[in-house]
Amino acid sequence: MKHLLATDGLDPALATAVLDTAEELKHTLLGREVRKLPTLRGRTVITLFYENSTRTRVSFEIAGKWMSADVINVSASSSSVNKGESLRDTALTLAAAGADCVIIRHPASGAAQRLSGWLAEAGTAVVNAGDGTHEHPTQALLDAATLRERLGSFEGRRIGIVGDVLHSRVARSNIHLLSALGAEVVLVAPPTLLPAGVESLPVTVSHELDAELPALDAVMMLRVQAERMHGGFFPSAREYSIAYGLNERRMKLLPEHAVVLHPGPMLRGMEIASAVADSPASAITEQVRNGVHVRMAVLYHLLASEGAAA
Ligand code: CP
Repeated sequence: MKHLLATDGLDPALATAVLDTAEELKHTLLGREVRKLPTLRGRTVITLFYENSTRTRVSFEIAGKWMSADVINVSASSSSVNKGESLRDTALTLAAAGADCVIIRHPASGAAQRLSGWLAEAGTAVVNAGDGTHEHPTQALLDAATLRERLGSFEGRRIGIVGDVLHSRVARSNIHLLSALGAEVVLVAPPTLLPAGVESLPVTVSHELDAELPALDAVMMLRVQAERMHGGFFPSAREYSIAYGLNERRMKLLPEHAVVLHPGPMLRGMEIASAVADSPASAITEQVRNGVHVRMAVLYHLLASEGAAA
């Protein structure tokens, strides 16, 4: 693997290999007092974040450190980006300074793809840690790892993705990955929060959450992304929550084995009730835990495996 920019077009065999590596790493490190592997000793990983993050940035840093890489975090707000430096010059600077891998989060869709072009000559790997409303491939991989752990397989499984699909890079990456792995994806959202061209995606669409829940093996609740909304997409937070929030009454409509996911950060009381988020059906904490192993696996496939770019 040279870069990880999207799940759209990602070979399902490669995705499965990443999930297998993550599972192996998880078992290797389980119960160890010292969680340190020498795999990436001497390699330099830089996180370059132009948007806020808790889970993604921290778990990439832990992933790199557990594999003995040198990890450096650059945030746009405290770097020379604030003095007007362009994304291209920033990227070339990081590559010249010795980055083997740059992990980027950026508000512009396509930013990671552009970066990979600029860094091709330097041979620096690029990971998309979320670009605008486009993709967030490592989130989808950690969601898939969590679902595989809980459900065993994807074939014939019906996964609901609920809420603000329009602004969600998590939804987009999951649609492509989960369907490529054999699951059926159902989008449940008001018409105003579905993207144009939804009919060309490998999904079915519904506007009625109550009607879909009894046939779902998993339900992924999405955060309402107020920061990307310019205009009224629904009448009020209360009405959104009544129509699309996963509350205790709705949770009872799910099959007993069904898994509840949320990529975080959660808006408790809006798209998900606290009683649901903290219930045994919820795999939200496992998602975060698996995120570290999945990101270790991604770094391994980029920088250390036989198929790696370097
Ligand atoms: N799920 C996710 O990307 O969370 P962060 O924004 O905290 O990284």
